[in-house]
Amino acid sequence: MLAGVIDPELHVSIVDLGMVDDIVVSDDGHVTVKVALTTAGCPLRGQIKSEVQSKLRGLPGVNAVDVEYGEMTPEQKTAAMQRARWNAREGAEPTEVPSSTRVLAIASGKGGVGKSSVTVNLAAALAARGLTVGVLDADIWGFSVPRMLGIDGRLGGAEGKIHPHTLEVANQLDPNAPAGELKVVSMGFLVDDEGTALMWRGLILTKAVEQFLTDVRWGEMDYLLIDLPPGTGDIQMGLARMLPQSELLVVTTPAVAAQRVAVRAADMARRSYLKVVGVIENMSEFVAPNGERYAVFGEGGGAALAADIGAPLVAKIPLEPTVSAGGDAGHPVAITDPESPAGAAFHALAAQIVADLAPPIEMAGCTARMLDLIEQSAPAKP
Ligand SMILES: Nc1ncnc2c1ncn2[C@@H]1O[C@H](COP(=O)(O)OP(=O)(O)O)[C@@H](O)[C@H]1O
Ligand SMILES: [Mg+2]
Repeated sequence: MLAGVIDPELHVSIVDLGMVDDIVVSDDGHVTVKVALTTAGCPLRGQIKSEVQSKLRGLPGVNAVDVEYGEMTPEQKTAAMQRARWNAREGAEPTEVPSSTRVLAIASGKGGVGKSSVTVNLAAALAARGLTVGVLDADIWGFSVPRMLGIDGRLGGAEGKIHPHTLEVANQLDPNAPAGELKVVSMGFLVDDEGTALMWRGLILTKAVEQFLTDVRWGEMDYLLIDLPPGTGDIQMGLARMLPQSELLVVTTPAVAAQRVAVRAADMARRSYLKVVGVIENMSEFVAPNGERYAVFGEGGGAALAADIGAPLVAKIPLEPTVSAGGDAGHPVAITDPESPAGAAFHALAAQIVADLAPPIEMAGCTARMLDLIEQSAPAKP
């Protein structure tokens, strides 16, 4: 019954969210429902209460309905958000991405801020630690990952599954340790080829990313980095549905004026329950060989965005010709020049991510949610 009560904030049934702690039915038809809220003073509680009452009052034998409120522990809040995320996933096809893979999507409000450069260099820096890292170029219309990694040619496949291109990356932590590997998929590998085109028959461009996730045999991966198209459209929402475990890294430039655009990417994340794990400021001050610093594109943008959306500023990547030259040549600076200021910044970011960049506190809202008692408890029949 209560499954029909939709949380006004998360738009998911309060039962599915585990918000119903307990239901007590007395012999005289008096029903008491305990609802757990994220904060006891939740302004939406009145709405939840009246919905619970109206759902139960109509039932035969029910004479009165009381709603009591409790407050969730931080663990319960986290579990509830998890559930909201998985709920959003319902109906989506299973993906080929192993559940043990940590998925990091690189987002930005607009193009040209260095999202793809960050994706390939961060992927390379992670692989240089001996890790296996998938790179999914989800910027269907503006793909640049193949050029930046110096990879081309059609993707192979077998048994209806596509195989990613792979690239070995020497281990920079210990030259004697096993190399890392990049597994790369991009729209750029699919165009202009009949055989592959056939495999991708029926492909609708906006569905391409879903197909990349379901039809590519990714195999084991420690990380999957996704270069999202700029903005907040269908692709982002599709990703949230298919891979609700995705965490977002938002890239911005140091220009404070650019923040409003970047904030939208974070808003999209909130609406789709994706976690924003950090802000990356790219094209930060240029460090001249003599050590002098030049804030070519202004300063403070990354910190301003981080403060705005409540996520940490996790990296400042300096503006440096080696980044663009490396991108054009297909040799990421993180591989060719790891000691350069930009190369070092990418490696420091990789180290920080591996050391586990903790997801931020789950959303600030007050909505209720909690444990799964209701499903086991007897339906509210007198
Ligand atoms: N830190 C940097 N220093 C110098 N050039 C950069 C840096 N980051 C990106 N670029 C260059 O800026 C341009 C846009 O970067 P790109 O990664 O393609 O952005 P996006 O994917 O957000 O559109 C590219 O030519 C790239 O080489
Ligand atoms: Mg790009």
